[in-house]
Amino acid sequence: MKKNILITGGAGFIGSHVVRLFVNKYPNYQIINFDKLTYAGNLANLTDIEKQPNYTFVKGDIQNKHALEKVFKTHQITDVIHLAAESHVDRSISGPMDFILTNIVGTANLLEVSRARWSKFDHHIFYHISTDEVYGSLGEEGFFLEDTPYDPRSPYSASKASSDHLVRAYFHTYGMPVKLSNCSNNYGSHQFPEKLVPLMINNIKTNKSLPIYGKGDNVRDWLWVEDHARAIDVIFHKGKLGETYNIGGWNEWTNINLVKALCRIMDEKLNRPIGTSQKLITFVKDRAGHDMRYAIDATKIKNELGWTPSITFKDGLEKTVDWYLSNTQWLDNVTSGAYEKYYSEKYL
Ligand code: NAD
Ligand code: DAU
Repeated sequence: MKKNILITGGAGFIGSHVVRLFVNKYPNYQIINFDKLTYAGNLANLTDIEKQPNYTFVKGDIQNKHALEKVFKTHQITDVIHLAAESHVDRSISGPMDFILTNIVGTANLLEVSRARWSKFDHHIFYHISTDEVYGSLGEEGFFLEDTPYDPRSPYSASKASSDHLVRAYFHTYGMPVKLSNCSNNYGSHQFPEKLVPLMINNIKTNKSLPIYGKGDNVRDWLWVEDHARAIDVIFHKGKLGETYNIGGWNEWTNINLVKALCRIMDEKLNRPIGTSQKLITFVKDRAGHDMRYAIDATKIKNELGWTPSITFKDGLEKTVDWYLSNTQWLDNVTSGAYEKYYSEKYL
């Protein structure tokens, strides 16, 4: 079946993996990547597929409803996979308004334009990509299930929870054909080095200190980004309308143990005596309202859609480190803002 799929945030970390997967796997689909190209998005993430005939990039802001109306009309959009968001918790603490405007108002704009453009809802899908952080914070026991009550605790997670509620409200009120998924922490190539894994890799490489918030005993559940992209593919094609699917790696790590594992891998790759990088670890002031533990129960997506993670954490971390060590220009460009400047001038 032919489709014209609008993927928002396709120049970002997860979005670029989703765009690559869909462009390569579905030549019948036209993929329209709609992205504002903030500091977190850059088209260098997609150079391998940018010339494919089924791929188009449109620079635009989901806060701008007219820009969305235009892209829907020009490209006769049939489906939406919505990833565009402000995504970094620390930034949401220092400046929540961008999160409220992009994540809440931007999602509302996208819902409104889809509702107006799709005269009948048959054969359309509005798929919203969300996070496990909407469920709040766990103690030592238990897992997040799809029906775990929402309890967001940071401006980021509150903005994502709000957008999830809007998406579900459009399903119940208007019959909008929506799907949602809530995923745990992703890691892999092309992630902006403000998030834990690439930040630590970059700092180990450049011999900078490794800032661990608090005691480092907060727990996250880590998933290989390409496995998340595969899950999104499966949910888009086989997931039920109106349903939510939790996606996770069954792979919990305390931050301190994860950073120590990265130090070991990096010492080996950089031919440094084992133990060298670990000396860079520095315990710093804790994140305000720092959620203690996230852990996803991903049974529903396994039982209903047959998805499970494909690689071990050890292999995934090694691949991730290898990617950052062999893409030093990418790393230098994103940390210096060079791509941001280049692409904003190119797509003024
Ligand atoms: P990211 O920050 O790497 O990328 C976000 C992308 O959205 C960038 O390309 C940016 O330019 C674009 N964008 C931001 N504001 C925009 C706007 N107003 N209009 C258009 N484009 C805009 O984020 P990510 O880590 O790839 O996350 C993608 C999505 O997945 C987000 O919705 C996030 O909440 C969700 N998510 C992320 C994780 C994770 O571990 N990173 C886990 C679960 C869910
Ligand atoms: O759970 C899914 C979420 O995972 C996504 O929705 C978010 O978009 C994504 O950013 C991520 O949120 P976290 O806050 O968990 O990710 P971050 O990489 O910022 O931090 C991971 C853990 O590491 C967290 O407990 C805070 C800690 N940390 C982070 C940084 C950047 C440190 O100890 N030191 C650091 O320098």
